[in-house]
Amino acid sequence: MKKNINLKVPPQADFIQTWRWTDEGLFLLDQRKLPQQEKYIICNTVDKVRKAIKDMVVRGAPAIGICSAIGFTIGIKNFLEKKKKISIQSINQEVKKISYLLETARPTAVNLKWAVNRMKNVCENFLKEIEKEQITLEILKRLYFFLEEEALKIWEEDIIGNLAMAKFGKDLIPEGGVLTHCNTGALATGGYGTALGVIRESYKHNKKIFVFVDETRPFLQGSRLTAWELSKLKIPYAIITDNTAGYLMKKGQVKAVIVGADRIASNGDTANKIGTYSLAVLAYHHQIPFFVAAPSSTFDLEILSGEEIPIEQRPSKEVLYCVKSKIAPLNAKAYNFAFDITPGELITAIITEKGVIYPPYKENILKTIKGNEN
Ligand code: MRU
Repeated sequence: MKKNINLKVPPQADFIQTWRWTDEGLFLLDQRKLPQQEKYIICNTVDKVRKAIKDMVVRGAPAIGICSAIGFTIGIKNFLEKKKKISIQSINQEVKKISYLLETARPTAVNLKWAVNRMKNVCENFLKEIEKEQITLEILKRLYFFLEEEALKIWEEDIIGNLAMAKFGKDLIPEGGVLTHCNTGALATGGYGTALGVIRESYKHNKKIFVFVDETRPFLQGSRLTAWELSKLKIPYAIITDNTAGYLMKKGQVKAVIVGADRIASNGDTANKIGTYSLAVLAYHHQIPFFVAAPSSTFDLEILSGEEIPIEQRPSKEVLYCVKSKIAPLNAKAYNFAFDITPGELITAIITEKGVIYPPYKENILKTIKGNEN
Protein backbone atom coordinates (compact mmCIF):
# COMPACT_ATOMS: atom_id res chain seq x y z
CA MET A 1 0.00 0.00 0.00
CA LYS A 2 3.02 2.34 -0.23
CA LYS A 3 2.33 5.38 -2.36
CA ASN A 4 4.59 7.39 -4.57
CA ILE A 5 3.67 10.75 -3.10
CA ASN A 6 5.98 11.35 -0.18
CA LEU A 7 4.77 14.62 1.20
CA LYS A 8 1.09 15.34 1.33
CA VAL A 9 0.51 19.09 1.34
CA PRO A 10 -2.37 21.02 -0.21
CA PRO A 11 -1.46 23.80 -2.65
CA GLN A 12 -1.76 26.71 -0.18
CA ALA A 13 0.73 25.81 2.55
CA ASP A 14 1.63 28.61 4.93
CA PHE A 15 4.76 30.21 6.41
CA ILE A 16 4.66 27.71 9.26
CA GLN A 17 4.49 23.98 8.75
CA THR A 18 2.15 23.07 11.57
CA TRP A 19 2.29 19.49 10.40
CA ARG A 20 3.67 17.33 7.63
CA TRP A 21 1.94 14.25 6.36
CA THR A 22 4.14 11.64 4.77
CA ASP A 23 4.01 7.89 4.20
CA GLU A 24 5.64 7.55 7.63
CA GLY A 25 2.76 9.28 9.39
CA LEU A 26 1.66 12.69 10.64
CA PHE A 27 4.48 14.90 11.93
CA LEU A 28 3.01 17.47 14.30
CA LEU A 29 4.77 20.63 15.41
CA ASP A 30 4.55 20.27 19.18
CA GLN A 31 2.68 23.43 20.18
CA ARG A 32 3.34 22.77 23.87
CA LYS A 33 7.00 23.51 23.25
CA LEU A 34 6.58 26.79 21.35
CA PRO A 35 8.00 29.38 21.21
CA GLN A 36 11.23 28.01 22.72
CA GLN A 37 11.51 24.92 20.54
CA GLU A 38 10.23 23.98 17.10
CA LYS A 39 10.02 20.21 17.44
CA TYR A 40 7.88 17.71 15.57
CA ILE A 41 6.48 14.49 16.95
CA ILE A 42 5.37 11.66 14.72
CA CYS A 43 1.94 10.05 14.96
CA ASN A 44 1.62 6.86 12.98
CA THR A 45 -1.38 5.31 14.74
CA VAL A 46 -4.89 6.50 15.60
CA ASP A 47 -4.06 6.27 19.30
CA LYS A 48 -1.11 8.58 18.84
CA VAL A 49 -3.18 11.11 16.89
CA ARG A 50 -5.88 10.99 19.58
CA LYS A 51 -3.30 11.49 22.33
CA ALA A 52 -1.69 14.41 20.46
CA ILE A 53 -5.09 16.12 20.18
CA LYS A 54 -5.98 15.39 23.82
CA ASP A 55 -2.61 16.62 25.12
CA MET A 56 -2.70 19.75 22.94
CA VAL A 57 0.34 18.95 20.81
CA VAL A 58 -2.01 20.24 18.12
CA ARG A 59 -4.95 22.47 19.08
CA GLY A 60 -7.44 24.92 17.63
CA ALA A 61 -10.82 23.72 16.36
CA PRO A 62 -10.11 23.59 12.59
CA ALA A 63 -6.62 22.10 13.09
CA ILE A 64 -7.84 19.24 15.26
CA GLY A 65 -10.62 18.58 12.72
CA ILE A 66 -8.09 18.25 9.91
CA CYS A 67 -5.75 16.11 12.02
CA SER A 68 -8.58 13.77 12.94
CA ALA A 69 -9.32 13.29 9.22
CA ILE A 70 -5.64 12.45 8.64
CA GLY A 71 -5.69 10.22 11.76
CA PHE A 72 -8.70 8.40 10.35
CA THR A 73 -6.84 7.71 7.10
CA ILE A 74 -3.79 6.48 9.01
CA GLY A 75 -6.00 4.20 11.12
CA ILE A 76 -7.63 2.59 8.09
CA LYS A 77 -4.27 2.24 6.35
CA ASN A 78 -2.80 0.41 9.37
CA PHE A 79 -5.84 -1.84 9.56
CA LEU A 80 -5.76 -2.74 5.88
CA GLU A 81 -2.04 -3.43 5.99
CA LYS A 82 -2.16 -5.60 9.09
CA LYS A 83 -5.18 -7.78 8.50
CA LYS A 84 -4.86 -10.79 6.24
CA LYS A 85 -8.56 -11.51 5.80
CA ILE A 86 -10.72 -8.44 5.41
CA SER A 87 -14.49 -8.37 5.20
CA ILE A 88 -16.86 -5.45 4.82
CA GLN A 89 -18.05 -6.19 8.32
CA SER A 90 -14.54 -5.95 9.77
CA ILE A 91 -13.95 -2.63 7.96
CA ASN A 92 -17.20 -1.30 9.39
CA GLN A 93 -16.15 -2.33 12.88
CA GLU A 94 -12.81 -0.61 12.48
CA VAL A 95 -14.45 2.57 11.16
CA LYS A 96 -16.63 2.64 14.29
CA LYS A 97 -13.65 2.18 16.59
CA ILE A 98 -11.51 4.80 14.86
CA SER A 99 -14.38 7.31 14.71
CA TYR A 100 -15.06 6.97 18.41
CA LEU A 101 -11.40 7.44 19.34
CA LEU A 102 -11.03 10.57 17.26
CA GLU A 103 -14.41 12.17 17.88
CA THR A 104 -14.04 11.96 21.64
CA ALA A 105 -10.46 13.24 21.84
CA ARG A 106 -11.82 16.64 22.96
CA PRO A 107 -15.49 17.46 23.56
CA THR A 108 -16.12 21.12 22.73
CA ALA A 109 -14.92 21.78 19.16
CA VAL A 110 -17.50 20.34 16.78
CA ASN A 111 -14.91 20.21 13.98
CA LEU A 112 -13.74 16.80 15.24
CA LYS A 113 -17.15 15.21 14.74
CA TRP A 114 -17.66 17.11 11.50
CA ALA A 115 -14.40 15.86 9.96
CA VAL A 116 -14.85 12.28 11.21
CA ASN A 117 -18.36 12.25 9.70
CA ARG A 118 -16.97 13.24 6.33
CA MET A 119 -14.46 10.40 6.49
CA LYS A 120 -17.11 7.93 7.64
CA ASN A 121 -19.31 8.95 4.69
CA VAL A 122 -16.49 8.18 2.25
CA CYS A 123 -16.17 4.70 3.76
CA GLU A 124 -19.91 4.08 3.77
CA ASN A 125 -20.36 5.15 0.14
CA PHE A 126 -17.38 3.10 -0.95
CA LEU A 127 -18.51 -0.01 0.88
CA LYS A 128 -22.01 0.31 -0.57
CA GLU A 129 -20.55 0.42 -4.06
CA ILE A 130 -18.39 -2.67 -3.62
CA GLU A 131 -21.00 -4.65 -1.72
CA LYS A 132 -21.14 -7.43 -4.26
CA GLU A 133 -17.49 -7.49 -5.29
CA GLN A 134 -14.83 -9.78 -3.93
CA ILE A 135 -12.49 -7.82 -1.66
CA THR A 136 -9.07 -7.63 -3.24
CA LEU A 137 -5.93 -5.65 -2.49
CA GLU A 138 -6.78 -3.38 -5.44
CA ILE A 139 -10.15 -2.54 -3.93
CA LEU A 140 -8.59 -1.79 -0.57
CA LYS A 141 -6.05 0.48 -2.20
CA ARG A 142 -8.93 2.39 -3.77
CA LEU A 143 -10.55 2.90 -0.36
CA TYR A 144 -7.30 4.26 1.04
CA PHE A 145 -6.93 6.54 -1.96
CA PHE A 146 -10.44 7.99 -1.46
CA LEU A 147 -9.82 8.55 2.24
CA GLU A 148 -6.52 10.27 1.62
CA GLU A 149 -8.16 12.44 -1.01
CA GLU A 150 -10.95 13.44 1.38
CA ALA A 151 -8.54 14.29 4.22
CA LEU A 152 -6.49 16.48 1.87
CA LYS A 153 -9.69 18.10 0.64
CA ILE A 154 -10.73 18.95 4.22
CA TRP A 155 -7.31 20.50 4.79
CA GLU A 156 -7.31 22.41 1.53
CA GLU A 157 -10.88 23.66 1.95
CA ASP A 158 -9.96 25.02 5.36
CA ILE A 159 -7.11 27.10 3.93
CA ILE A 160 -9.24 28.36 1.05
CA GLY A 161 -12.04 29.13 3.53
CA ASN A 162 -9.65 31.04 5.79
CA LEU A 163 -8.51 33.18 2.88
CA ALA A 164 -12.13 33.93 1.92
CA MET A 165 -13.11 34.85 5.48
CA ALA A 166 -10.05 37.06 5.79
CA LYS A 167 -11.19 38.99 2.72
CA PHE A 168 -14.75 39.39 4.09
CA GLY A 169 -13.46 40.37 7.51
CA LYS A 170 -10.75 42.85 6.62
CA ASP A 171 -13.20 45.68 5.89
CA LEU A 172 -14.85 45.28 9.28
CA ILE A 173 -11.68 45.83 11.27
CA PRO A 174 -11.13 49.49 12.17
CA GLU A 175 -7.66 51.03 12.44
CA GLY A 176 -6.10 51.22 15.89
CA GLY A 177 -6.05 48.65 18.69
CA VAL A 178 -7.55 45.25 17.94
CA LEU A 179 -7.79 42.79 20.80
CA THR A 180 -7.67 39.02 20.30
CA HIS A 181 -7.81 36.02 22.60
CA CYS A 182 -6.20 32.57 22.41
CA ASN A 183 -4.58 31.50 19.12
CA THR A 184 -6.55 31.48 15.90
CA GLY A 185 -3.73 31.65 13.37
CA ALA A 186 -1.89 29.24 11.10
CA LEU A 187 -1.19 27.00 14.11
CA ALA A 188 -4.88 26.56 14.88
CA THR A 189 -6.08 25.99 11.32
CA GLY A 190 -5.09 24.45 8.01
CA GLY A 191 -2.51 27.17 7.54
CA TYR A 192 -3.71 30.79 7.54
CA GLY A 193 -6.03 31.62 10.41
CA THR A 194 -9.57 32.66 11.27
CA ALA A 195 -9.58 35.72 13.56
CA LEU A 196 -5.83 36.09 13.12
CA GLY A 197 -6.31 35.58 9.39
CA VAL A 198 -8.63 38.61 9.33
CA ILE A 199 -6.02 40.61 11.25
CA ARG A 200 -3.30 39.47 8.80
CA GLU A 201 -5.39 40.47 5.82
CA SER A 202 -6.25 43.89 7.30
CA TYR A 203 -2.57 44.54 7.98
CA LYS A 204 -1.62 43.37 4.49
CA HIS A 205 -4.02 45.99 3.13
CA ASN A 206 -2.14 48.69 5.00
CA LYS A 207 -4.58 49.16 7.82
CA LYS A 208 -2.72 50.69 10.74
CA ILE A 209 -3.54 48.17 13.37
CA PHE A 210 -1.93 47.23 16.63
CA VAL A 211 -2.81 43.88 18.17
CA PHE A 212 -3.44 43.45 21.88
CA VAL A 213 -2.75 39.77 22.54
CA ASP A 214 -4.43 38.30 25.60
CA GLU A 215 -1.92 35.95 27.16
CA THR A 216 -4.75 33.38 27.59
CA ARG A 217 -4.12 31.59 30.85
CA PRO A 218 -3.52 28.80 31.64
CA PHE A 219 -2.15 27.32 28.40
CA LEU A 220 -0.84 30.71 27.20
CA GLN A 221 -1.96 30.29 23.59
CA GLY A 222 -1.79 34.09 23.28
CA SER A 223 1.66 34.84 24.65
CA ARG A 224 3.30 31.66 23.34
CA LEU A 225 1.56 31.07 20.02
CA THR A 226 -0.23 34.19 18.75
CA ALA A 227 2.71 36.40 19.68
CA TRP A 228 5.04 33.93 17.92
CA GLU A 229 2.96 34.09 14.75
CA LEU A 230 2.66 37.89 14.86
CA SER A 231 6.43 38.19 15.33
CA LYS A 232 7.00 36.02 12.25
CA LEU A 233 4.49 38.12 10.31
CA LYS A 234 6.01 41.38 11.60
CA ILE A 235 2.62 42.70 12.70
CA PRO A 236 2.92 45.10 15.67
CA TYR A 237 1.54 43.72 18.92
CA ALA A 238 1.83 43.66 22.69
CA ILE A 239 0.93 40.88 25.06
CA ILE A 240 -1.44 41.81 27.85
CA THR A 241 -2.58 39.81 30.86
CA ASP A 242 -6.12 38.55 30.51
CA ASN A 243 -7.40 41.01 33.08
CA THR A 244 -6.09 44.11 31.27
CA ALA A 245 -8.80 44.32 28.58
CA GLY A 246 -11.29 46.40 30.61
CA TYR A 247 -8.69 49.00 31.47
CA LEU A 248 -7.61 49.42 27.83
CA MET A 249 -11.22 49.56 26.64
CA LYS A 250 -12.06 52.26 29.17
CA LYS A 251 -9.09 54.29 27.91
CA GLY A 252 -10.43 54.00 24.34
CA GLN A 253 -7.46 52.01 23.09
CA VAL A 254 -9.40 48.99 21.83
CA LYS A 255 -11.36 49.64 18.64
CA ALA A 256 -12.51 46.07 18.03
CA VAL A 257 -12.30 42.58 19.50
CA ILE A 258 -11.98 39.56 17.22
CA VAL A 259 -11.88 35.93 18.32
CA GLY A 260 -12.32 32.45 16.85
CA ALA A 261 -14.80 29.74 17.84
CA ASP A 262 -14.93 26.07 18.76
CA ARG A 263 -18.65 25.58 18.22
CA ILE A 264 -21.43 27.94 17.18
CA ALA A 265 -25.04 26.99 17.92
CA SER A 266 -27.83 27.82 15.49
CA ASN A 267 -28.80 30.89 17.53
CA GLY A 268 -25.27 32.32 17.38
CA ASP A 269 -24.17 31.33 20.90
CA THR A 270 -20.46 30.70 20.59
CA ALA A 271 -18.12 28.43 22.53
CA ASN A 272 -14.56 29.70 22.54
CA LYS A 273 -11.55 29.80 24.83
CA ILE A 274 -12.35 30.58 28.45
CA GLY A 275 -12.38 34.35 28.94
CA THR A 276 -14.10 35.11 25.63
CA TYR A 277 -17.44 35.71 27.35
CA SER A 278 -15.90 38.25 29.76
CA LEU A 279 -14.37 40.08 26.79
CA ALA A 280 -17.73 40.19 25.01
CA VAL A 281 -19.45 41.65 28.09
CA LEU A 282 -16.72 44.27 28.40
CA ALA A 283 -16.91 45.12 24.70
CA TYR A 284 -20.70 45.47 24.93
CA HIS A 285 -20.38 47.81 27.91
CA HIS A 286 -17.85 49.97 26.08
CA GLN A 287 -19.75 49.81 22.78
CA ILE A 288 -16.86 48.18 20.96
CA PRO A 289 -17.60 45.79 18.05
CA PHE A 290 -17.08 42.16 18.96
CA PHE A 291 -16.44 39.82 16.01
CA VAL A 292 -16.22 36.04 15.77
CA ALA A 293 -14.43 34.50 12.76
CA ALA A 294 -15.07 30.82 12.04
CA PRO A 295 -15.48 28.41 9.13
CA SER A 296 -18.81 26.68 8.49
CA SER A 297 -17.31 23.45 9.91
CA THR A 298 -17.53 25.11 13.35
CA PHE A 299 -21.32 25.58 13.20
CA ASP A 300 -23.46 22.99 14.92
CA LEU A 301 -26.89 23.50 13.44
CA GLU A 302 -28.26 20.52 15.33
CA ILE A 303 -28.25 22.45 18.58
CA LEU A 304 -30.50 25.36 19.40
CA SER A 305 -28.32 27.21 21.89
CA GLY A 306 -25.00 27.27 23.69
CA GLU A 307 -26.53 25.42 26.64
CA GLU A 308 -26.15 22.22 24.66
CA ILE A 309 -22.41 22.65 24.10
CA PRO A 310 -20.23 20.42 26.31
CA ILE A 311 -17.49 22.39 28.02
CA GLU A 312 -14.17 20.63 28.39
CA GLN A 313 -12.62 20.62 31.82
CA ARG A 314 -8.88 20.09 31.75
CA PRO A 315 -6.56 18.92 34.54
CA SER A 316 -6.23 21.40 37.42
CA LYS A 317 -2.46 21.11 37.28
CA GLU A 318 -2.50 23.33 34.17
CA VAL A 319 -3.76 26.13 36.47
CA LEU A 320 -1.70 25.24 39.51
CA TYR A 321 1.57 25.21 37.62
CA CYS A 322 3.10 27.77 35.28
CA VAL A 323 5.96 26.57 33.09
CA LYS A 324 6.59 23.66 35.45
CA SER A 325 6.64 25.86 38.60
CA LYS A 326 3.95 25.40 41.18
CA ILE A 327 2.21 28.74 41.69
CA ALA A 328 -0.31 27.78 44.37
CA PRO A 329 -0.21 26.37 47.89
CA LEU A 330 0.13 22.66 48.41
CA ASN A 331 -3.27 20.94 48.07
CA ALA A 332 -4.86 24.00 46.45
CA LYS A 333 -7.91 23.19 44.35
CA ALA A 334 -8.37 24.70 40.89
CA TYR A 335 -11.05 24.74 38.23
CA ASN A 336 -9.90 24.55 34.64
CA PHE A 337 -12.81 25.14 32.29
CA ALA A 338 -11.24 25.31 28.85
CA PHE A 339 -14.11 27.17 27.14
CA ASP A 340 -17.07 29.41 27.83
CA ILE A 341 -20.17 30.42 25.91
CA THR A 342 -20.72 33.92 24.55
CA PRO A 343 -24.40 34.58 23.89
CA GLY A 344 -25.20 35.53 20.30
CA GLU A 345 -26.65 38.87 21.40
CA LEU A 346 -23.18 40.06 22.43
CA ILE A 347 -21.69 39.30 19.00
CA THR A 348 -21.68 42.10 16.42
CA ALA A 349 -21.10 39.78 13.45
CA ILE A 350 -19.80 36.31 12.61
CA ILE A 351 -17.31 36.21 9.76
CA THR A 352 -17.35 32.99 7.74
CA GLU A 353 -15.98 31.84 4.38
CA LYS A 354 -19.53 32.09 3.05
CA GLY A 355 -19.99 35.72 4.07
CA VAL A 356 -20.52 37.90 7.13
CA ILE A 357 -23.51 36.94 9.27
CA TYR A 358 -25.35 39.63 11.23
CA PRO A 359 -28.20 39.27 13.74
CA PRO A 360 -30.85 37.95 13.87
CA TYR A 361 -28.66 34.86 13.97
CA LYS A 362 -31.42 32.27 14.12
CA GLU A 363 -32.48 33.18 10.58
CA ASN A 364 -29.25 34.39 9.10
CA ILE A 365 -26.99 31.54 10.20
CA LEU A 366 -29.27 29.03 8.55
CA LYS A 367 -29.51 31.13 5.40
CA THR A 368 -25.75 31.59 5.07
CA ILE A 369 -24.48 28.20 6.20
CA LYS A 370 -27.19 25.91 4.86
CA GLY A 371 -28.56 28.15 2.12
CA ASN A 372 -25.42 28.07 0.01
CA GLU A 373 -24.82 24.34 0.46
CA ASN A 374 -24.92 22.14 -2.70
O1 MRU B 1 -7.86 24.78 23.71
P1 MRU B 1 -7.53 25.27 22.32
O2 MRU B 1 -6.21 25.93 22.23
O3 MRU B 1 -7.75 24.21 21.29
O4 MRU B 1 -8.64 26.39 22.06
C1 MRU B 1 -8.65 27.05 20.82
C2 MRU B 1 -9.61 28.17 20.75
O5 MRU B 1 -10.36 28.42 21.66
C3 MRU B 1 -9.64 28.91 19.46
O6 MRU B 1 -10.05 30.22 19.67
C4 MRU B 1 -10.64 28.24 18.51
O7 MRU B 1 -10.41 26.88 18.42
C5 MRU B 1 -10.60 28.82 17.16
S1 MRU B 1 -9.10 28.41 16.31
C6 MRU B 1 -9.20 29.02 14.75
